[in-house]
Amino acid sequence: MAAKNDAKFTVPGLSIEDGHQVANTLQARLHALNDLQLTLKHAHWNVVGRGFISVHEMLDPQIELVRGFVDELAERMATLGVSPNGLPGNLVKTRGWDDYAVHRGTVTEHLTALNEVYNGIISSHREAIEAVGEIDPITEDMLIGQTGQLELFQWFMRSHLENDAGELNAT
Ligand SMILES: [Fe+2]
Repeated sequence: MAAKNDAKFTVPGLSIEDGHQVANTLQARLHALNDLQLTLKHAHWNVVGRGFISVHEMLDPQIELVRGFVDELAERMATLGVSPNGLPGNLVKTRGWDDYAVHRGTVTEHLTALNEVYNGIISSHREAIEAVGEIDPITEDMLIGQTGQLELFQWFMRSHLENDAGELNAT
């Protein structure tokens, strides 16, 4: 039985059950991306030291991109007939990760921590791609596009962390 926030429709060509199942898979991704855009701003404000300005300025376009992903994903949920939950209380209550641990910190400290955040987000996006791919290629396509952009930015961050031997310097 549909919850009271669910619509009595989904997109044409899917059963209501399948459409709502796909949308419900997206709820955790919505919380993860909302958490990410806040965490990236926190890093933008708190990064200090050598390389400050390049990292400070590198983060803002990524924040705008992720905010766009949040909107795109929430509206896909609504299109599929399920009410997206964008509330911070629900985010904190249901998320499976702790708050970002770095406050005032160096470029290396922030990029190392953000690299870990991206490992989690990208892995979970890939799991969601697997989960929805058989049912809804439109939602799958959206998640694939987002994941590619998240992976690109992770490469930007990792490039800052490489030492002269080409290894990730994670200290
Ligand atoms: Fe700013």
